[in-house]
Amino acid sequence: MYIKLLSGALGAEISGIDLKDSSKENYERINNLLLEHKVIFFRNQDITHEEQIALAQNWGPLENHAYVKGLDKHPEIVRIVKTKEEKNQWGENWHTDVSYNVKPTKAVILKSIKIPPVGGDTCFSNMELAWETLDEVIKEKIKDKKAIHSSLGAEFFIDNYKGMKGHEKINYDEYSNEHPIVRTHPETGKKILYVNWTYTKKIIGLEKEESDEILKKIFEHQARLDLTCRFNWTENAVAMWDNRSVLHYAIADFYPGRGLGHERIMDRIAIEGDQPH
Ligand SMILES: [Fe+2]
Repeated sequence: MYIKLLSGALGAEISGIDLKDSSKENYERINNLLLEHKVIFFRNQDITHEEQIALAQNWGPLENHAYVKGLDKHPEIVRIVKTKEEKNQWGENWHTDVSYNVKPTKAVILKSIKIPPVGGDTCFSNMELAWETLDEVIKEKIKDKKAIHSSLGAEFFIDNYKGMKGHEKINYDEYSNEHPIVRTHPETGKKILYVNWTYTKKIIGLEKEESDEILKKIFEHQARLDLTCRFNWTENAVAMWDNRSVLHYAIADFYPGRGLGHERIMDRIAIEGDQPH
């Protein structure tokens, strides 16, 4: 096995591991790497849908996405599609997946199917480091507080993407929940800064103005480049991230003459998480 660190903050590209191997030993090896590096990447992994599902099931029950429809044959696989002429793509801002759920995703396994010649890298940011390096005055203010995470407007949001489908119209209000701003990782015991630009709307117990001001500072802090790593996709690459301890950002840098005019297709499987505490 060879491990190439992607930045000083988080992320590693792993070679010498076969993701078709769904044995307990292989799971333990991968999970240790995941906990240590928070996001891990594997290239040239020509795994089938069934193999991707078998791999993911090692981490627990799989999740069906709250508002995006999965594949007909495998509803637990969400196909993320950016059509040729689209400039935008799903996930193009800092977020952690489905933090508006009671039990947000534990981990995600994302496999690339089609990748443009340039553009569409994914960035990750380390939220343990973000907590450690956060301004002490802000830390003191938020350390015992909760925040509201909401997916309101999701139905319009998914309508933005031509290649993707939402579930039938349902009440999107239900995807709004409160979580502690600082959560504890259930496996490592580390503190994690658990808010994000896309879904966190308000700090409970503060006036809106003060909440907005503090959240703005936190979101800027979380996006500091020295907390991040960046992955340049190739086809048949697999990324796996610990959705409890990182934020991610799918960069939509598809401009004419460069990344625009090409499809980008990824297959995503999410594993159920627990309630943040
Ligand atoms: Fe995402």
